[in-house]
Amino acid sequence: MVGKFIGIGVGPGDPELITIKAAKALRAAEYICVPKSQVHKPSMALGMIKQILEERQNPAEIVELLFPMTKDEMNNRKLWSENAAIVSSKAKKGDVAFITLGDPMLYSTFLYLYEYIKETFPGVEMEIIPGVTSLTAAAARAKLPLAEREEVVTIIPSDLDPAIIEETARSADNLVFMKCAYRIKELIPILKKAGFTKDAKIALVKRCTLPKEKVLVGKLSDAENWKVKKDYFSVAIVKRSQVPIHWKKNGEQA
Ligand SMILES: C[S@@+](CC[C@H](N)C(=O)[O-])C[C@H]1O[C@@H](n2cnc3c(N)ncnc32)[C@H](O)[C@@H]1O
Repeated sequence: MVGKFIGIGVGPGDPELITIKAAKALRAAEYICVPKSQVHKPSMALGMIKQILEERQNPAEIVELLFPMTKDEMNNRKLWSENAAIVSSKAKKGDVAFITLGDPMLYSTFLYLYEYIKETFPGVEMEIIPGVTSLTAAAARAKLPLAEREEVVTIIPSDLDPAIIEETARSADNLVFMKCAYRIKELIPILKKAGFTKDAKIALVKRCTLPKEKVLVGKLSDAENWKVKKDYFSVAIVKRSQVPIHWKKNGEQA
């Protein structure tokens, strides 16, 4: 193989949050793979690297790869295998960059392809360039720390069953909800059942660092009155606002 397959995290939205290493790889790669959930839907990640691509002297070939967000395993596997074959054939001619929102190692489309290529095209060399995650960007925009001292942070994909969310939240200090499938109001009763009080701090960050960004910060009791539409590009951070759970278990704090 002449080239490598490079998974590149382009951050949460603001092009200024693209790392220097990512920009360097994007200026050099012969091919840039753009994951799309629908053929005609514009790619947010591609929009974020627009300026870097415009500044290139030799334009890269843009390779659109379809990754529909469905639970049809058979169809998904077929597409991943086709996409892996495309990447492998391009890597014979040069570096293939795959752009992904946030970080490539956190709930990203890149991971499907990464696993598939590892299994079926072991000759393809791979590199991963980390990016600023949506959850760290959301914490920064909301000015709400993700973890302090000995607090434990638990990340929950919020399309999970409510009973699983409740069980997970019960033993957690701070929670981060991603893939916000629920309205924030639907999460509040689950959190209350899991022992979060009305004084627990909560932040909801929609479209973090993007033009239509919305940041709401308050207490769980305030969030009950927030009027916000459900948006896939949302992260919610919830802090128990009490001593960490394991201190209580160890009997160090009552
Ligand atoms: C498939 S995951 C991708 C996560 C990404 N790899 C990362 O490191 O942040 C998609 C979820 O990430 C979160 N997300 C990604 N970009 C976001 C943004 N700009 N603002 C708010 N949430 C975002 C949302 O929770 C969304 O449902």
